[in-house]
Amino acid sequence: MSIAASPVAELEIQERVAAAAREGLTSDPKRLPPWLFYDEEGSELFEAITELDEYYLTRTERSILVRHADEIVAAAADSAFAGRARLRIAELGAGSAEKSRLLLRAAAHRQRSLIYEPIDVSASALDGACERIEREIPGVRVIPQVTDYTRNFELAACHGERRLVLYIGSSIGNFEPDEAQQLLRGVRAGLAPGDGLLLGVDLVKDESLLLAAYDDAAGITAAFNRNLLSRLNRELAGDFAPEAFAHRALWNRAFSRIEMHLESRSAQRVRLAAADLDVAFAEGETIHTENSYKFEPGQAEALLEAAGFAPAGLWTDARGWFAVCLGRAR
Ligand code: AVI
Repeated sequence: MSIAASPVAELEIQERVAAAAREGLTSDPKRLPPWLFYDEEGSELFEAITELDEYYLTRTERSILVRHADEIVAAAADSAFAGRARLRIAELGAGSAEKSRLLLRAAAHRQRSLIYEPIDVSASALDGACERIEREIPGVRVIPQVTDYTRNFELAACHGERRLVLYIGSSIGNFEPDEAQQLLRGVRAGLAPGDGLLLGVDLVKDESLLLAAYDDAAGITAAFNRNLLSRLNRELAGDFAPEAFAHRALWNRAFSRIEMHLESRSAQRVRLAAADLDVAFAEGETIHTENSYKFEPGQAEALLEAAGFAPAGLWTDARGWFAVCLGRAR
C-alpha cells in the first residue's frame, strides 16, 4: 500500500509554511510554530531523538506500555456501564506507530481481529508503518488517514465497536494549554459515550534531566531545531545560514515548560524569496520554536475531565517520570 501526497496538498502546505514564516518572523519576539519541524528530514531527526540516552520520554512511555498494554486495553474495552466491547483503535499523529504496536498487539490478541486507524500529516511515515503493522501483527487491518489532525479529521462511524483514540508520546505538551483543551474537546466531539482517549504526558522532574533531554550531547536536538531554518530555505527559497543560529533549551518553571529557541549569533539579514519576506536579526535575538509542557500529577486527568472524559485509569513508571492516562467519553 502506498499513500501519496497530492500536489494540491503540497501547495497548501507551502502556503501554510509561508504564512507561518510571515506571521512568526514579523512578530516581536520572533517565533515559528513547532509543526514546522516535521518535514521528512525533521521527522527523521525526531526519530533519532527518540533513541538518545538523554531523551527519556519515548523509552519511559514504552516501558509503561510494555508492562501495562493488556491492562490498558482491558480498561478501554470494559466498563461498568456498558459491559465488554470490541475495540477499534485510532491514533493521532501516529508517525512510525512504534509504541502503539504494543497496544495493537494486545487488542488483536484479545479480540482476534482489529481495525487500526492511524492519522498523520506525513504520508511517508504512515506508509512504512501500515505495511509493517499488517505484516507483523496478525488480525490487524490498517485504515490510514493523511491529514493534519490539529486542523480537521473525521473518523468513520463505528457500529458495534468502541473506539480507543491514542494520543501518546507527550505531543499534547507541544500545545498551549487552551489549544490542548480545544484539541481534546474536538476529539471528544467525534466520539460516542464509552469510547476512550489514551493520553501520554511527560511529568515535571529534575531540571537537569529535562534540560539534557532537549539539549543532547550529540547535538541531534540542535540539528532538529535548526532544520526548521533549512526547511524554510528549501520551501521558501530562503538564505538562512542555520549554523549562524545557536540552539537554546531552557526550563521555564513558572509555565512548567521546556522552551526551545534559536539565537542569532550575530546581526544578520535573511531573505525568504518565495514568501517575499526580508527579516533582520540583532545579535542575540531569538526565534521561539517550541514549548514542551510538563505535567504535575493530576493535571492530565483534569485536562481530560474538562474535555468531557471521565478518568478511567492511570499508568506510570517506577520513577514517576511519565504518565499514560485513560479517559472515557461521558
Ligand atoms: C513531539 N514532542 C512530544 C517532542 C517533545 O518532547 O516535546 C518534540 C521534541 N522537541 C525536542 N525534542 C523533541
